[in-house]
Amino acid sequence: MKHDLFRKKSIAAMMKESGDSAGGLKRTLSAANLVTLGIGAIVGTGIFVVTGQAAAQYAGPALTISFLISAFGCVLAGLCYAEFSAMIPVSGSAYSYSYATIGELLAWFIGWDLILEYLFAVSSVSVGWSGYMCNLLSSLGMALPPHLVQSTFDHVAGQGWVFTGSIINFPAVFIVALVTSLLLAGVKQSALINNIIVVIKVSVILLFIGFGLSYIDMSNYHPYIPENTGQFGSFGWSGILRATAVVFFAYLGFDALSTAAQETKNPQRDMPKGILISLLICAVLYIAVTAVLTGMVNYKELNVDAPIALAIDRAGANLRWLSPFIKLGAIAGISSVVLVMMYGLTRIYYAIAHDGMLPRMFSKVNPKTGVPQNATLFAGIGCGLVAGLFPLHALVEMVSIGTLMAFAIVCISIIVLRKTQPDLKRPFRVPLVPFIPLLGAGICILQMVSLPWSTWLRLIIWTAAGLAIYFLYGRRRSRLNKK
Ligand code: ALA
Repeated sequence: MKHDLFRKKSIAAMMKESGDSAGGLKRTLSAANLVTLGIGAIVGTGIFVVTGQAAAQYAGPALTISFLISAFGCVLAGLCYAEFSAMIPVSGSAYSYSYATIGELLAWFIGWDLILEYLFAVSSVSVGWSGYMCNLLSSLGMALPPHLVQSTFDHVAGQGWVFTGSIINFPAVFIVALVTSLLLAGVKQSALINNIIVVIKVSVILLFIGFGLSYIDMSNYHPYIPENTGQFGSFGWSGILRATAVVFFAYLGFDALSTAAQETKNPQRDMPKGILISLLICAVLYIAVTAVLTGMVNYKELNVDAPIALAIDRAGANLRWLSPFIKLGAIAGISSVVLVMMYGLTRIYYAIAHDGMLPRMFSKVNPKTGVPQNATLFAGIGCGLVAGLFPLHALVEMVSIGTLMAFAIVCISIIVLRKTQPDLKRPFRVPLVPFIPLLGAGICILQMVSLPWSTWLRLIIWTAAGLAIYFLYGRRRSRLNKK
């Protein structure tokens, strides 16, 4: 029984299953397609909302440094993801990789962690969407009542959870419900729509950078690194580090790219290229937006729901024409991230349930639409509740800590596997092993450590619940048990 925890699913069986369940997906994607898919999944609430809030609360104008460090960590983890995704080109991302190579317990652990990442990512991205939607509605004179635009609870340092007086963040629940119904109807984001949305969001970001440049007031950059307030994580270098962990959220989505490996023409060559180029483009855009944003408006004023819109509205009459474009662009751009992330969540539920470690009902597929209906409904209800009740900062920190942990495990697994299974065919190899995976894991752990204790506590509770479910349910019900 002891060895159960390390039992593995064979790679051949996995490839066969994923080919079957996908109806024999065609290999059509090139590296360029992967880059547009990547940008479609990555650019969202992180850049449009979290940038302003992280500058205001943790790092000031030095947030540019945070974006740089975080991108570096993502590139290193991205290389490790690329080695895995080329070695095991099946859907299910890190969950499947570890099930095939390390064993069931770790696979469950990572799968449970991915549920955390996607559940909270869908919710936080929806809260970001709500911020821009409310801003647009009020600029059109159609503001929603205050008790429908804010989370029901907030977490205040020193006080813990407080009731805000609001009933629910209605627009956030609305977008989750809309996306859930689209997914239930079997809608998948087509490549064409994704490309259109990518063009829209990259254009509004470039317009913001281009027009915003001439409105920069250099005095807003002084001090570039605001002095630490005496509290860890509140400005100074510890603030830059905490902001790094928070804005790490903005790069997420590239890990979802690895799940497209089975539709990629040449995954060995194109997957690493796709991951690295999309990360690089996002890093350049993010750093430029942060520099312009903190130059246009003093960082202290950026803790709002729609900071980019605030900067444009503040710039005066000459830029007023740009404001609706930015808001609509952000709303369209963020919508596609909600869709991609929610799709990812339903497929993780599906994959784990299919392996027997979550109730089988979640792997039931509607024969007409081909959609895992119960998994999609369950995901929609969970995300809707979390998005309506909780504030963005707490959600983003949860996404970051959970994903950083998954990334650190993926990096370390690369080193372990090179030793334990040296003969596996590795079409793409991370260079300089163990140096690069170790550095990648190190940067992830450093970012985790800089997050507040309250976030750690939530991660510990989540993990303990996950382990309890595995030992009480998953271990016995696992499909591998029957063999
Ligand atoms: N990277 C995604 C976003 O910023 C999660 O919205």
